[in-house]
Amino acid sequence: MNPSQRRAWAALELGPRWSNRPMPSDASALAVSPAIDARDPVAVPAPAADVRLAELRSEVARCTRCELCQSRSRTVFGSGPTSARWMIVGDAPGAQEDASGEPFVGPSGQLLTHMLQALGLTRERDVFITNALKCHPPENRHPTAQEISRCLPFLRQQVTQQAPRGLLLMGRFAAQALLGGDEERISALRGRVHECEIDGVRVPAVVTFHPEYLLRHSAVKALAWADLCLARDHFGPGSDG
Ligand code: URA
Repeated sequence: MNPSQRRAWAALELGPRWSNRPMPSDASALAVSPAIDARDPVAVPAPAADVRLAELRSEVARCTRCELCQSRSRTVFGSGPTSARWMIVGDAPGAQEDASGEPFVGPSGQLLTHMLQALGLTRERDVFITNALKCHPPENRHPTAQEISRCLPFLRQQVTQQAPRGLLLMGRFAAQALLGGDEERISALRGRVHECEIDGVRVPAVVTFHPEYLLRHSAVKALAWADLCLARDHFGPGSDG
């Protein structure tokens, strides 16, 4: 473990009984759905795909599908390489994300960054991060079902266009948006690999606690760490290079 991972480890309050499991050497242990397997592992999105994503980003920026467009400062489309193997989906932007237009920049974003570092992943290189909602709900209230359903087509297009190797769904609303179900608790969904199917594209998905919840409930950080290890074992490392 390098010094940066050691610091991340300390921030997660993990160890010494938790250790970073090595990547499995057996390629079959990284089995992913056939639809994703077919993708050239070194492929980056073709220029046409980049254009489509740029169009989608500007469509999101102009969106008026729900009332959040009246209170938002900026839409939060997502950040990170669009060719990343991992797509991380949170619930909805907070106040700091609304001001900056970037996902997970507040305290919960710092924890997320540390968790990724502990896995040997960086936000700049290895993961694309977005949210179920692209606009901040005022007063940090929960998203409504209508807001999620109006915003969902954007997230679905991000998944099908970027075709990540895996989805890490952090939080109840992220999980509900992509896996369905109503009031499912994270504890009922975490700890296993789901399959998310969107327009014929099948992507493995791991559900875990939202970093904001982890900040308030340290006791479940170890479970979140187990979920991240599960994701790493199924999605592989963040980048192909
Ligand atoms: N919480 C989220 O779910 N997403 C963000 O981008 C920030 C906080």
